Amino acid sequence: MAGDYIVKDISLAGFGRKELDIAETEMPGLMALRKEYGEEKPLKGSRIVGSLHMTIQTAVLIETLVALGADVRWASCNIFSTQDHAAAVIAEAGIPVFAIKGQSLEEHWDYLDRSFQFPEGPNLILDDGGDATLYILLGARAEAGEDIISVPTSEEEEVIKAQIKKRMEQSPGWFTKMRDQIKGVSEETTTGVHRLYELVKQGQLPFPAINVNDSVTKSKFDNKYGCKESLVDGIRRATDTMMAGKVAVVCGYGDVGKGSAASLSGAGARVKVTEADPICALQAAMDGYEVVLLEEALDADIFITTTGNKDILRIEHMREMKDMAIVGNIGHFDNEIQVANLKNHKWTNIKDQVDMVEMPSGNRIILLSEGRLLNLGNATGHPSFVMSASFTNQVLAQIELWTRGDQYDNKVYILPKHLDEKVAALHLERVGAKLTKLTPEQAAYIGVKPEGPFKPEHYRY
Ligand code: NAI
Repeated sequence: MAGDYIVKDISLAGFGRKELDIAETEMPGLMALRKEYGEEKPLKGSRIVGSLHMTIQTAVLIETLVALGADVRWASCNIFSTQDHAAAVIAEAGIPVFAIKGQSLEEHWDYLDRSFQFPEGPNLILDDGGDATLYILLGARAEAGEDIISVPTSEEEEVIKAQIKKRMEQSPGWFTKMRDQIKGVSEETTTGVHRLYELVKQGQLPFPAINVNDSVTKSKFDNKYGCKESLVDGIRRATDTMMAGKVAVVCGYGDVGKGSAASLSGAGARVKVTEADPICALQAAMDGYEVVLLEEALDADIFITTTGNKDILRIEHMREMKDMAIVGNIGHFDNEIQVANLKNHKWTNIKDQVDMVEMPSGNRIILLSEGRLLNLGNATGHPSFVMSASFTNQVLAQIELWTRGDQYDNKVYILPKHLDEKVAALHLERVGAKLTKLTPEQAAYIGVKPEGPFKPEHYRY
């Protein structure tokens, strides 16, 4: 359909294409899949709804899915993460996309709805954070007359309820029909995966799911090395603050926390960590960071939440912070920081996605991306190379769901280790890494095959 898109400015497509050409040279995994599967087109017949940050790297993912035979419609999974030139280039390529940097919450859910509007309906979801899956499942529950609750944040709850009501009025029975024709979902991130496991526990997952996040070549790379590059990038683009010598507090020391602490310390900041899990707390201490209680560290200069949990930086914390403390979140949802409780304070907008909020004491904090993930809101997210590893897993997951989905139960699966190792192998040449070949004797001695898999399932990397 001509003009089946909503983007900020279609004339940005030329710039987008140039950046896409560069990104392709840094995304060897995706390009290898185009070569391997381009003729066979294993995704032929699939109609994929994508709900994932509409960046340049995602544009390479989308064009890979299309090269493998898929029909695709796309929305971003965050109101601030779209790169408008990336959305433009996808729209110009004739792929329906609905994403604008700085869209409202109402637009967010409306655009998500539009990404489902294939003439024959979609049959696969590629999700990041679970909003696309949530939309369909909540809608189907509403159609069954059940109460719909537990959406990401309370502000969002009203918006999503209104969107569901609108769709139910326009097309009665639509959500149930969608739910029944979806063959599966592949989920990108920790928070979305958490939601999927909860659904399984409640016996409410209606289709198979592939947990892409827990491929080793995703969470141990994107979440860690990705944030290592993109966290400081976001803080710098937002504030131009000198990082060296500052005291930064990183809340959470999981994969994202590890990358975030490394990002800040690499820039010369003195980093403190808060953790709830003794294993991660011990890791932080042994990596050389002071592990503290947040309440003891409120005189720091920079505060970053990375927990995927809620109410981490609360209003009482922000009131104690020093003048011009920088506050940001790199976890998936904005509820890590109690931004709603700042609404009745004096806000001064500095520039897009940067606000100064005045506390009753007169001290001000610099709040990044209104508490939404700042590496995508204030910068351009992770570099292409690491996203290539994540997205190669995504494409393999989509192929698996489309070609063999019938063989899966309505549970959450992780891609087999040989595919994880394949994703890594596809990225070695670009960084000039040479792989040692085990002799048959060596392989036998450590109990593996010379061609892998090289580790047992329980190995933790
Ligand atoms: P994770 O589960 O590995 O780490 C989270 C850590 O936070 C855990 O170690 C947990 O013990 C800790 N934690 C929980 N509550 C806490 C509290 N009250 N105080 C201190 N620590 C606490 O999860 P991962 O993979 O690091 O992801 C974290 C979040 O980042 C998720 O929302 C995920 O979806 C998101 N994410 C964001 C990315 C980005 O580019 N911005 C990239 C990848 C993931």
